[in-house]
Amino acid sequence: MGKYDVVMVRHGESEWNQKNLFCGWYNADLSDKGKQEATSSGKALKDAHFKFDIAYTSVLIRAQKTLQIILQELGQDIPIEKCWRLNERHYGGLTGLNKTETANKYGEEKVAIWRRSYDVPPPPMEPDHPYYEKIVNDPIYKDGPSKEEFPKFESLKLTIARTLPYWNDVIVPEIKKGKSVLIVAHGNSLRGIIKHLDKISDKDIMGLNLPTGIPFVYSLDENLNPIPNGSLQFLGDPETVKKAMDEVAAQGKAK
Ligand code: 3PG
Repeated sequence: MGKYDVVMVRHGESEWNQKNLFCGWYNADLSDKGKQEATSSGKALKDAHFKFDIAYTSVLIRAQKTLQIILQELGQDIPIEKCWRLNERHYGGLTGLNKTETANKYGEEKVAIWRRSYDVPPPPMEPDHPYYEKIVNDPIYKDGPSKEEFPKFESLKLTIARTLPYWNDVIVPEIKKGKSVLIVAHGNSLRGIIKHLDKISDKDIMGLNLPTGIPFVYSLDENLNPIPNGSLQFLGDPETVKKAMDEVAAQGKAK
């Protein structure tokens, strides 16, 4: 065990994950499978005897519901902090498109770059995009981002630029106070935190695909560096985890 153990979970499968659509800031709900994944996450954390003091999540419903189900399973009623800085990366003009159809149209390589490159952003979401109004005017953004900050698209680099200040300024101080922290967020906001903690290169981060609804633990030393073997410890059997990661990677394949 490290000095600090931090648990993170990517939300359970959403209705848009199920349909294989680029989702980003579209506020998709959990699918039935996603709810089951959240329940299993809660059970796994309970079996491992985790007790949390505080939880952090995004302003998107798929992460919030996953957190709610996990806490119900755990029987723990703790403070919850919600912030847009933990949101999924904004998928720009790709939002709502099917990942397979997009790979058929533009090629798998292009889709892989849009999905996993560090700094190549997707095309912007313009005001005539079918989901522009719904996202920009959603009251979940009443506390931020500001009009100037509101993204039209985000690469992983841009996602990290707004997620890391929240990690450093809000979450880390609580960890250092000795609080047991649970973070329920998204594939790419969590990839950003992982890249930072493990100092993963811009190139190597392309290979990391996070499965939905499987909790993982980071065991950190007093300087918040992962201890040996303390990174990305999934609470699940390795074969299931690998299969789930491969499935996420395959979502961008052509058919
Ligand atoms: C989405 O926003 O579409 C997914 O939740 C994450 O997408 P990705 O696996 O393509 O990064």
